[in-house]
Amino acid sequence: MTALTLSTSSAATLRADAIVVGVAKGPKGPVVAPGAEAVDKAFDGKLATVLETLGASGGEGEVTKLPALSGLKAPVVLAVGLGDLPAKGDGFDEETLRRAAGSAARTLTGVKKAAFALPVGDAESVAAIGEGAVLGAYTFTTYRSNGGAKKDAKGAPLAEATILGAKPRDKAFKAAVERATTVAAEVNRARDLVNIPSNDLNPKSFATEAQAAAKEFGLKVEVLDEKALLKGGYGGLMGVGQGSANPPRLVRIAYTHPKAAKTLALVGKGITYDSGGISLKPAGHNETMKCDMSGAAAVFAAVVAVAKLGLEVNVTGWLALAENMPSGNATRPGDVLKMYSGKTVEVLNTDAEGRLVLADALTRASQENPDAIVDVATLTGAMVLALGNRTFGVMANDDAFRTALYEIAEEVGEPAWPMPLPADLRKSMDSPVADLANMGERMGGGLVAGLFLQEFVGEGITWAHLDIAGPAFHESAPYGYTPKGGTGSAVRTLVRLAERTADGDLG
Ligand code: BES
Ligand code: ZN
Ligand code: ZN
Repeated sequence: MTALTLSTSSAATLRADAIVVGVAKGPKGPVVAPGAEAVDKAFDGKLATVLETLGASGGEGEVTKLPALSGLKAPVVLAVGLGDLPAKGDGFDEETLRRAAGSAARTLTGVKKAAFALPVGDAESVAAIGEGAVLGAYTFTTYRSNGGAKKDAKGAPLAEATILGAKPRDKAFKAAVERATTVAAEVNRARDLVNIPSNDLNPKSFATEAQAAAKEFGLKVEVLDEKALLKGGYGGLMGVGQGSANPPRLVRIAYTHPKAAKTLALVGKGITYDSGGISLKPAGHNETMKCDMSGAAAVFAAVVAVAKLGLEVNVTGWLALAENMPSGNATRPGDVLKMYSGKTVEVLNTDAEGRLVLADALTRASQENPDAIVDVATLTGAMVLALGNRTFGVMANDDAFRTALYEIAEEVGEPAWPMPLPADLRKSMDSPVADLANMGERMGGGLVAGLFLQEFVGEGITWAHLDIAGPAFHESAPYGYTPKGGTGSAVRTLVRLAERTADGDLG
């Protein structure tokens, strides 16, 4: 992983393989952003003109590579677009810096050390640049036959990012970099898990990963295997997993702090592959379904991040792991499952499996009476239709909690939007044979799924549901710090939620 360092050296004298500078879109062309004064000086104060000549405008995400001139130790200057120049007196916002650093780091694969001469103000801006650099440098090469980045130096992620303009011994800056390193590493852990193909990542191997991390970071872990799930009456998890040769697991991974006043429960959908089951997905809809465990990956990574940060809050992660496959043992449309809560569910569509595994995990999580439960799931195609590929939906049984989550997501740079749970949609899940069906009205399908989950949340427990089906897996061209494939969506939101809970800012 990219190492982050701080330095107050001048961009002119620092030894690095490249210097990253910011360029904004001014009213009359590109403008060199603060932080790059020494670099501009080496260009005789004409860096903006040089960039304009090369066709640069300062637009967001734009990257321009220049050979450095004498007066600079580094051989290359990389100018990253910051978008519109902020109003006088305002700085660049954190997400702009995070994305710019990400675009730069992504361009700098194969480079050993880059100095980031971007506009640095407070510790937050340092954290944003650091986070963006580590996230943007991410590559997933495990399955390349040449051994990927390990053997091919040209494809190796940027090894070191030095953020200029920040005193290395300043307490706030130091803490900001440490947090950024931890959070970004854990986002990348979630990305890795999502990117591992389903022939290598199944419920059992995912649980093994959780056990290994628990050992490494001093977490308490319990794994219920298929025998324990059957015995315990986990009809949702068993019903979804029974068609697969890779049986289901329920993992509880818990971080506790001796001084914690609050306990958060995080529940993740962990379908290691979603074929749809007997209600098989058509071709074109299953190629990316290794991503259907992104919720569990986010929860797992967030718990590890919280542990590494040593936050004063208890966080219990629940990973509802199963593989949804069709077979002679698979649940059929029309079957009735007896859930862990005791409720019965008629399975009308075996492709609506996420809510079934989550239901059992939500009931189990509720038994411990946490102060709040947040579940994270690639739950519905309907949410992708509603909010697109980059924004996740936030539903909740509490208005203040939904608002808090939406605002936290916004704050950490994860686009999210509040969605309602309209009570009238509940009756569309009425079943003639069971307590409810796993499917209802097609219109507002993401909200129907949320209403289904709500049925399994313990009485009086504050709960929110994040449907990350859109942003969890990125299929088009990389942008900012977002690579192709697993994105680690929701990890940063969950970590910030834990921080806010630890600080006593919530409920
Ligand atoms: N895993 C899918 C949802 C999904 C779709 C995730 C696209 C990521 C990208 C989920 O299990 C599913 O198939 N849901 C069905 C529910 C329907 C049958 C009620 C859907 O959304 O079509
Ligand atoms: Zn499905
Ligand atoms: Zn699914």
